[in-house]
Amino acid sequence: MYYEPGRTPSNLPYNPFKSCVVPRPIGWIATVSADGRHNLAPFSQFQNVAYDPPMVMVSGNNRPDGTLKDTIRNILDTGEFVWSMATYAQREQVSASAQEFAPGVDEFEAVGIQSAPANLVKARRVADSPAHFECKVHQTVYLPGNTLESHTHLIIAEVIGIHIADDYIDASGRFDVLRARPLARLGYLDYTSVDNAFELLIPGFRPGQTVEYLKDSVRKP
Ligand SMILES: Cc1cc2nc3c(=O)[nH]c(=O)nc-3n(C[C@H](O)[C@H](O)[C@H](O)COP(=O)(O)O)c2cc1C
Repeated sequence: MYYEPGRTPSNLPYNPFKSCVVPRPIGWIATVSADGRHNLAPFSQFQNVAYDPPMVMVSGNNRPDGTLKDTIRNILDTGEFVWSMATYAQREQVSASAQEFAPGVDEFEAVGIQSAPANLVKARRVADSPAHFECKVHQTVYLPGNTLESHTHLIIAEVIGIHIADDYIDASGRFDVLRARPLARLGYLDYTSVDNAFELLIPGFRPGQTVEYLKDSVRKP
């Protein structure tokens, strides 16, 4: 089948678009409003987009009435947020934190999620998440939509602080992703989680190159 979004119908009962780019990691995004109220919500349009300096992106569409979601409003007002890794064990809390609470309601309190302070920004971390990024906005891109709800703000942010809970660092010094079991979105109402991993070497890589690749870029003094 083939269709042209907005021009020709897919003739499918449900829109297949979101189930093609999968799995999408969950941006569990904590922010603070200009008047100091804390907020937490999940965004599956979230991704790592650069590594030196590390940068992530998160995007949020509007509410059905065309107003900005609290997360986006807060990020535009304050220029900062915290990402907490969402895990399979936290799946019910992730879903509960997506409820449309009245503006100003603190989802940490409303859902009963324990928080911990960040070091460099005012937004808080989900205390029992295995990893957190403290983020400062680099650039915001407005993506016009076809309906009031589909107008979107894409936020690109620099990761200025990284927390990894020590018990998720394995004996080889790597982040133990299978222990963390990150949660991710598929299409429709489906989710998945990372419960297996395998290694592949790029053909032609020499052992030294492999080590360099794993080390990532370490800035020279
Ligand atoms: C797993 C999950 C992923 C979501 N991803 C997005 C997303 O990528 N973009 C978006 O605008 N809303 C997304 N939502 C919906 C928001 O979480 C929801 O609108 C929430 O109420 C926004 O809260 P806020 O107004 O406090 O920012 C998602 C919800 C869930 C449960």
